[in-house]
Amino acid sequence: MDFDKIKKELEQALSVAADLKQVEEVRIRFLGKKGSIADLRKNVDFKSLSADEKKDFGRNFNNLKDYAEEQVKQASAKFKNHNKESADIDMTLPGTQRSLGSLHPITIVQIELEEIFKSMGFSVLTGYEAETEYYNFDSLNIPADHPAREMQDTYWLTNNMLMRTHTSASQVRAIEEYGVPLRAIFPGRCFRYENVDASHENTFYQLEGLMIDKDISIAHLIAVMKALLSRVFHKEVKVRLRPGFFPFVEPGFELDIQCLLCAGKGCSTCKKTGWIELLPCGLVHPRVLECGKVDPLAYSGFAFGLGLTRLAMMKYNIPEIRLFNSGDIRFNAQFPVIV
Ligand code: FA5
Repeated sequence: MDFDKIKKELEQALSVAADLKQVEEVRIRFLGKKGSIADLRKNVDFKSLSADEKKDFGRNFNNLKDYAEEQVKQASAKFKNHNKESADIDMTLPGTQRSLGSLHPITIVQIELEEIFKSMGFSVLTGYEAETEYYNFDSLNIPADHPAREMQDTYWLTNNMLMRTHTSASQVRAIEEYGVPLRAIFPGRCFRYENVDASHENTFYQLEGLMIDKDISIAHLIAVMKALLSRVFHKEVKVRLRPGFFPFVEPGFELDIQCLLCAGKGCSTCKKTGWIELLPCGLVHPRVLECGKVDPLAYSGFAFGLGLTRLAMMKYNIPEIRLFNSGDIRFNAQFPVIV
Protein backbone atom coordinates (compact mmCIF):
# COMPACT_ATOMS: atom_id res chain seq x y z
CA MET A 1 0.00 0.00 0.00
CA ASP A 2 1.03 3.57 -0.69
CA PHE A 3 0.42 4.96 2.80
CA ASP A 4 4.00 6.25 3.17
CA LYS A 5 4.13 7.61 -0.37
CA ILE A 6 0.89 9.57 0.15
CA LYS A 7 2.11 10.85 3.52
CA LYS A 8 5.30 12.22 1.90
CA GLU A 9 3.35 13.77 -0.98
CA LEU A 10 1.00 15.48 1.48
CA GLU A 11 3.90 16.88 3.52
CA GLN A 12 5.58 18.14 0.36
CA ALA A 13 2.37 19.78 -0.92
CA LEU A 14 1.70 21.52 2.42
CA SER A 15 5.28 22.74 2.68
CA VAL A 16 4.92 24.75 -0.52
CA ALA A 17 1.35 25.97 0.06
CA ALA A 18 1.67 29.75 0.22
CA ASP A 19 -1.78 30.77 1.51
CA LEU A 20 -5.09 29.45 2.85
CA LYS A 21 -6.41 28.87 -0.66
CA GLN A 22 -3.53 26.58 -1.53
CA VAL A 23 -3.92 24.69 1.76
CA GLU A 24 -7.56 24.10 0.88
CA GLU A 25 -6.50 22.78 -2.54
CA VAL A 26 -4.15 20.34 -0.80
CA ARG A 27 -6.96 19.27 1.54
CA ILE A 28 -9.26 18.51 -1.39
CA ARG A 29 -6.48 16.69 -3.26
CA PHE A 30 -5.77 14.35 -0.33
CA LEU A 31 -8.84 14.35 1.92
CA GLY A 32 -11.68 15.14 -0.54
CA LYS A 33 -14.27 12.54 -1.60
CA LYS A 34 -12.23 11.88 -4.70
CA GLY A 35 -8.88 12.56 -2.99
CA SER A 36 -5.92 10.21 -2.96
CA ILE A 37 -6.67 8.92 0.58
CA ALA A 38 -10.27 8.00 -0.33
CA ASP A 39 -8.93 6.38 -3.52
CA LEU A 40 -6.84 4.01 -1.41
CA ARG A 41 -10.04 2.39 -0.20
CA LYS A 42 -11.63 2.29 -3.63
CA ASN A 43 -8.64 0.46 -5.09
CA VAL A 44 -8.60 -2.38 -2.57
CA ASP A 45 -10.31 -5.73 -3.20
CA PHE A 46 -11.42 -6.39 0.35
CA LYS A 47 -12.73 -9.83 -0.54
CA SER A 48 -9.20 -11.03 -1.27
CA LEU A 49 -7.87 -9.84 2.12
CA SER A 50 -7.61 -11.98 5.21
CA ALA A 51 -9.17 -10.74 8.45
CA ASP A 52 -5.75 -9.61 9.76
CA GLU A 53 -4.92 -7.84 6.51
CA LYS A 54 -8.25 -6.01 6.67
CA LYS A 55 -7.46 -4.96 10.25
CA ASP A 56 -4.00 -3.67 9.18
CA PHE A 57 -5.46 -1.77 6.27
CA GLY A 58 -8.13 -0.19 8.46
CA ARG A 59 -5.58 0.90 11.11
CA ASN A 60 -3.12 2.36 8.54
CA PHE A 61 -5.91 4.06 6.65
CA ASN A 62 -7.31 5.78 9.74
CA ASN A 63 -3.84 6.79 10.96
CA LEU A 64 -3.06 8.39 7.60
CA LYS A 65 -6.41 10.17 7.46
CA ASP A 66 -6.01 11.50 11.04
CA TYR A 67 -2.46 12.58 10.28
CA ALA A 68 -3.50 14.36 7.06
CA GLU A 69 -6.38 16.16 8.81
CA GLU A 70 -4.08 17.36 11.60
CA GLN A 71 -1.43 18.58 9.14
CA VAL A 72 -4.01 20.50 7.08
CA LYS A 73 -5.46 22.00 10.25
CA GLN A 74 -2.05 23.22 11.40
CA ALA A 75 -1.22 24.67 7.99
CA SER A 76 -4.48 26.63 7.83
CA ALA A 77 -4.05 27.88 11.40
CA LYS A 78 -0.65 29.24 10.46
CA PHE A 79 -2.12 31.36 7.68
CA LYS A 80 -5.17 32.39 9.70
CA ASN A 81 -2.94 33.80 12.49
CA HIS A 82 -0.75 35.48 9.95
CA ASN A 83 -3.74 37.17 8.34
CA LYS A 84 -5.00 38.27 11.75
CA GLU A 85 -1.67 39.92 12.56
CA SER A 86 -1.65 41.78 9.26
CA ALA A 87 -5.22 42.89 9.82
CA ASP A 88 -4.17 44.47 13.17
CA ILE A 89 -1.82 46.89 11.39
CA ASP A 90 -3.57 49.89 9.93
CA MET A 91 -1.14 51.21 7.35
CA THR A 92 -3.13 54.42 6.95
CA LEU A 93 -2.56 55.59 10.54
CA PRO A 94 0.10 58.29 11.00
CA GLY A 95 3.41 56.89 12.37
CA THR A 96 4.80 57.59 15.82
CA GLN A 97 7.47 60.21 15.35
CA ARG A 98 10.64 59.67 17.33
CA SER A 99 12.34 62.71 18.71
CA LEU A 100 15.99 62.71 17.64
CA GLY A 101 17.26 65.56 19.76
CA SER A 102 19.96 67.96 18.63
CA LEU A 103 23.35 69.14 19.75
CA HIS A 104 23.54 72.24 21.92
CA PRO A 105 24.53 75.31 19.84
CA ILE A 106 27.72 75.75 21.87
CA THR A 107 28.69 72.14 21.13
CA ILE A 108 28.04 72.71 17.43
CA VAL A 109 30.27 75.81 17.40
CA GLN A 110 32.92 74.03 19.47
CA ILE A 111 33.07 71.08 17.07
CA GLU A 112 33.30 73.49 14.13
CA LEU A 113 36.16 75.44 15.74
CA GLU A 114 38.01 72.27 16.69
CA GLU A 115 37.91 71.18 13.04
CA ILE A 116 39.20 74.58 11.88
CA PHE A 117 42.07 74.54 14.36
CA LYS A 118 42.94 70.91 13.71
CA SER A 119 43.28 71.78 10.03
CA MET A 120 45.85 74.42 11.09
CA GLY A 121 47.85 71.84 13.05
CA PHE A 122 46.49 72.58 16.54
CA SER A 123 45.86 69.80 19.05
CA VAL A 124 42.64 69.85 21.09
CA LEU A 125 43.29 69.53 24.83
CA THR A 126 41.05 69.58 27.87
CA GLY A 127 41.65 71.33 31.15
CA TYR A 128 40.26 71.20 34.69
CA GLU A 129 37.14 73.11 35.68
CA ALA A 130 38.15 73.05 39.33
CA GLU A 131 41.61 74.61 39.44
CA THR A 132 44.30 75.69 41.83
CA GLU A 133 44.95 79.33 42.51
CA TYR A 134 48.41 78.80 41.03
CA TYR A 135 47.28 77.82 37.53
CA ASN A 136 44.31 80.21 37.39
CA PHE A 137 46.25 83.24 38.64
CA ASP A 138 49.88 82.95 39.83
CA SER A 139 51.30 81.09 36.84
CA LEU A 140 49.67 83.73 34.63
CA ASN A 141 51.60 86.57 36.23
CA ILE A 142 48.63 87.55 38.41
CA PRO A 143 50.05 87.56 41.98
CA ALA A 144 47.77 87.63 45.03
CA ASP A 145 47.92 91.38 45.50
CA HIS A 146 47.63 92.17 41.79
CA PRO A 147 44.60 94.32 40.93
CA ALA A 148 43.89 92.02 37.95
CA ARG A 149 42.50 89.41 40.36
CA GLU A 150 39.66 91.77 41.05
CA MET A 151 38.74 91.82 37.37
CA GLN A 152 37.35 88.34 37.74
CA ASP A 153 35.03 87.56 40.60
CA THR A 154 35.73 84.02 41.58
CA TYR A 155 33.77 81.08 42.98
CA TRP A 156 36.05 79.67 45.69
CA LEU A 157 35.75 76.06 46.80
CA THR A 158 36.08 75.01 50.43
CA ASN A 159 39.42 73.25 49.73
CA ASN A 160 41.13 76.48 48.57
CA MET A 161 40.64 75.55 44.95
CA LEU A 162 38.38 77.56 42.65
CA MET A 163 36.13 77.18 39.63
CA ARG A 164 38.36 78.39 36.83
CA THR A 165 37.49 81.91 35.73
CA HIS A 166 39.08 81.47 32.31
CA THR A 167 40.54 78.73 30.12
CA SER A 168 43.90 80.52 30.38
CA ALA A 169 44.24 78.45 33.56
CA SER A 170 45.31 75.56 31.32
CA GLN A 171 48.15 77.46 29.59
CA VAL A 172 50.99 76.50 31.91
CA ARG A 173 49.54 73.02 32.45
CA ALA A 174 49.66 72.46 28.67
CA ILE A 175 53.26 73.72 28.42
CA GLU A 176 54.30 71.52 31.34
CA GLU A 177 52.64 68.46 29.86
CA TYR A 178 53.55 68.81 26.19
CA GLY A 179 56.58 71.12 26.16
CA VAL A 180 57.43 73.39 23.23
CA PRO A 181 56.96 73.92 20.33
CA LEU A 182 53.25 73.78 21.12
CA ARG A 183 50.15 74.46 19.09
CA ALA A 184 46.96 73.70 21.02
CA ILE A 185 43.45 74.85 21.80
CA PHE A 186 41.54 74.03 24.97
CA PRO A 187 37.82 74.71 24.94
CA GLY A 188 35.77 74.51 28.13
CA ARG A 189 33.47 75.93 30.75
CA CYS A 190 34.37 78.90 32.89
CA PHE A 191 32.68 80.31 35.96
CA ARG A 192 32.43 83.86 37.27
CA TYR A 193 30.41 85.45 39.99
CA GLU A 194 28.78 87.86 37.56
CA ASN A 195 25.75 90.07 37.44
CA VAL A 196 23.90 88.13 34.77
CA ASP A 197 22.51 90.13 31.84
CA ALA A 198 21.87 89.65 28.08
CA SER A 199 25.57 89.00 27.37
CA HIS A 200 27.00 87.88 30.74
CA GLU A 201 26.43 84.48 32.32
CA ASN A 202 27.93 82.98 35.48
CA THR A 203 28.71 79.80 33.52
CA PHE A 204 29.97 80.24 29.97
CA TYR A 205 32.40 78.74 27.49
CA GLN A 206 35.74 79.94 26.26
CA LEU A 207 38.19 78.46 23.82
CA GLU A 208 41.81 79.15 24.62
CA GLY A 209 44.50 78.99 21.97
CA LEU A 210 48.23 78.80 22.51
CA MET A 211 51.02 78.68 19.97
CA ILE A 212 54.64 78.67 21.11
CA ASP A 213 57.60 78.29 18.82
CA LYS A 214 60.69 80.14 17.69
CA ASP A 215 60.08 83.66 16.28
CA ILE A 216 56.31 83.78 16.77
CA SER A 217 55.08 87.36 16.26
CA ILE A 218 51.88 89.43 16.16
CA ALA A 219 51.71 88.68 12.41
CA HIS A 220 51.13 84.99 13.20
CA LEU A 221 48.48 85.91 15.76
CA ILE A 222 46.54 88.14 13.35
CA ALA A 223 46.78 85.62 10.50
CA VAL A 224 45.30 82.84 12.66
CA MET A 225 42.54 85.10 14.03
CA LYS A 226 41.55 86.21 10.53
CA ALA A 227 41.48 82.66 9.18
CA LEU A 228 39.38 81.62 12.15
CA LEU A 229 36.73 84.34 11.86
CA SER A 230 36.26 84.08 8.09
CA ARG A 231 35.81 80.31 8.37
CA VAL A 232 33.39 80.52 11.28
CA PHE A 233 31.10 83.16 9.82
CA HIS A 234 31.51 82.21 6.14
CA LYS A 235 31.58 85.92 5.36
CA GLU A 236 33.60 89.05 5.89
CA VAL A 237 33.17 90.25 9.49
CA LYS A 238 34.25 93.71 10.59
CA VAL A 239 36.84 93.51 13.35
CA ARG A 240 38.77 96.02 15.38
CA LEU A 241 41.94 95.49 17.35
CA ARG A 242 42.55 97.72 20.33
CA PRO A 243 45.04 97.57 23.15
CA GLY A 244 43.92 95.39 26.05
CA PHE A 245 45.49 94.61 29.37
CA PHE A 246 46.02 91.05 30.55
CA PRO A 247 49.00 90.38 32.83
CA PHE A 248 49.83 87.16 30.95
CA VAL A 249 50.35 88.76 27.53
CA GLU A 250 52.59 91.57 26.34
CA PRO A 251 51.47 93.32 24.22
CA GLY A 252 47.79 92.50 24.78
CA PHE A 253 44.82 93.22 22.52
CA GLU A 254 41.07 93.11 22.48
CA LEU A 255 39.73 91.88 19.19
CA ASP A 256 36.09 92.95 18.83
CA ILE A 257 33.71 92.05 16.02
CA GLN A 258 30.96 94.31 14.80
CA CYS A 259 27.70 93.17 16.40
CA LEU A 260 25.96 90.94 13.89
CA LEU A 261 22.62 91.22 15.68
CA CYS A 262 22.24 94.94 14.96
CA ALA A 263 24.85 95.32 12.16
CA GLY A 264 26.75 97.79 14.35
CA LYS A 265 23.78 100.08 15.04
CA GLY A 266 23.73 99.31 18.79
CA CYS A 267 21.44 96.94 20.72
CA SER A 268 21.08 95.47 24.20
CA THR A 269 23.45 92.59 23.38
CA CYS A 270 26.32 94.93 22.42
CA LYS A 271 25.25 97.46 25.05
CA LYS A 272 24.56 100.03 22.33
CA THR A 273 28.22 100.14 21.26
CA GLY A 274 27.84 98.23 17.97
CA TRP A 275 30.81 95.99 18.94
CA ILE A 276 31.11 92.67 20.74
CA GLU A 277 34.21 91.82 22.78
CA LEU A 278 35.05 88.40 21.47
CA LEU A 279 38.70 87.60 21.28
CA PRO A 280 41.21 88.96 23.76
CA CYS A 281 44.70 87.97 22.73
CA GLY A 282 48.38 88.85 22.78
CA LEU A 283 51.93 87.58 22.87
CA VAL A 284 52.65 85.24 25.75
CA HIS A 285 54.32 87.06 28.63
CA PRO A 286 57.91 85.88 29.35
CA ARG A 287 56.92 85.13 32.99
CA VAL A 288 54.32 82.61 31.79
CA LEU A 289 56.93 80.87 29.64
CA GLU A 290 59.27 80.78 32.63
CA CYS A 291 56.54 79.20 34.78
CA GLY A 292 56.38 76.47 32.14
CA LYS A 293 60.21 76.14 32.25
CA VAL A 294 60.56 77.55 28.73
CA ASP A 295 63.38 79.99 27.89
CA PRO A 296 61.70 83.27 26.80
CA LEU A 297 64.83 84.27 24.89
CA ALA A 298 64.60 81.18 22.72
CA TYR A 299 60.82 80.92 22.35
CA SER A 300 57.87 83.25 21.93
CA GLY A 301 54.19 82.66 21.39
CA PHE A 302 50.69 84.02 21.16
CA ALA A 303 47.57 83.22 23.16
CA PHE A 304 43.92 84.07 22.79
CA GLY A 305 40.78 83.44 24.83
CA LEU A 306 37.77 83.28 22.54
CA GLY A 307 34.32 83.76 24.10
CA LEU A 308 32.71 80.64 22.70
CA THR A 309 29.24 81.40 24.08
CA ARG A 310 29.30 84.88 22.60
CA LEU A 311 30.52 83.51 19.29
CA ALA A 312 27.51 81.14 19.22
CA MET A 313 25.26 84.16 19.92
CA MET A 314 26.69 86.00 16.93
CA LYS A 315 26.63 83.00 14.63
CA TYR A 316 23.02 82.04 15.37
CA ASN A 317 21.59 85.52 16.08
CA ILE A 318 20.79 84.71 19.69
CA PRO A 319 20.14 88.00 21.51
CA GLU A 320 19.97 86.57 25.07
CA ILE A 321 22.80 84.58 26.70
CA ARG A 322 20.52 83.13 29.40
CA LEU A 323 18.81 80.95 26.78
CA PHE A 324 21.89 78.70 26.56
CA ASN A 325 21.60 77.36 30.09
CA SER A 326 17.81 77.64 30.28
CA GLY A 327 17.23 73.96 29.54
CA ASP A 328 14.29 75.02 27.36
CA ILE A 329 13.80 72.29 24.78
CA ARG A 330 12.18 74.76 22.34
CA PHE A 331 15.51 76.60 22.21
CA ASN A 332 17.62 73.52 21.54
CA ALA A 333 15.19 72.07 19.01
CA GLN A 334 15.96 74.93 16.62
CA PHE A 335 19.47 73.69 15.96
CA PRO A 336 20.39 71.07 13.41
CA VAL A 337 20.46 67.44 14.40
CA ILE A 338 23.95 66.08 13.84
CA VAL A 339 24.25 62.30 13.81
C1 FA5 B 1 39.98 86.35 29.62
O1 FA5 B 1 39.28 85.55 30.21
C2 FA5 B 1 41.38 86.05 29.23
N1 FA5 B 1 41.77 84.81 29.84
C3 FA5 B 1 41.45 85.96 27.71
C4 FA5 B 1 42.85 85.93 27.15
C5 FA5 B 1 43.42 84.74 26.83
C6 FA5 B 1 43.54 87.09 26.94
C7 FA5 B 1 44.69 84.66 26.29
C8 FA5 B 1 44.81 87.07 26.39
C9 FA5 B 1 45.37 85.85 26.07
P1 FA5 B 1 38.08 88.09 29.33
O2 FA5 B 1 37.75 88.22 30.78
O3 FA5 B 1 37.93 89.36 28.55
O4 FA5 B 1 39.49 87.48 29.10
O5 FA5 B 1 37.14 86.98 28.68
C10 FA5 B 1 37.36 86.50 27.38
C11 FA5 B 1 36.06 86.38 26.63
O6 FA5 B 1 35.19 85.50 27.35
C12 FA5 B 1 35.29 87.67 26.50
O7 FA5 B 1 35.70 88.41 25.36
C13 FA5 B 1 33.88 87.19 26.34
O8 FA5 B 1 33.60 86.85 24.99
C14 FA5 B 1 33.87 85.95 27.17
N2 FA5 B 1 33.28 86.21 28.49
C15 FA5 B 1 33.88 86.76 29.56
N3 FA5 B 1 33.02 86.85 30.59
C16 FA5 B 1 31.86 86.33 30.16
C17 FA5 B 1 30.57 86.11 30.76
N4 FA5 B 1 30.33 86.42 32.03
N5 FA5 B 1 29.60 85.55 30.00
C18 FA5 B 1 29.86 85.20 28.73
N6 FA5 B 1 31.03 85.35 28.11
C19 FA5 B 1 32.03 85.91 28.81
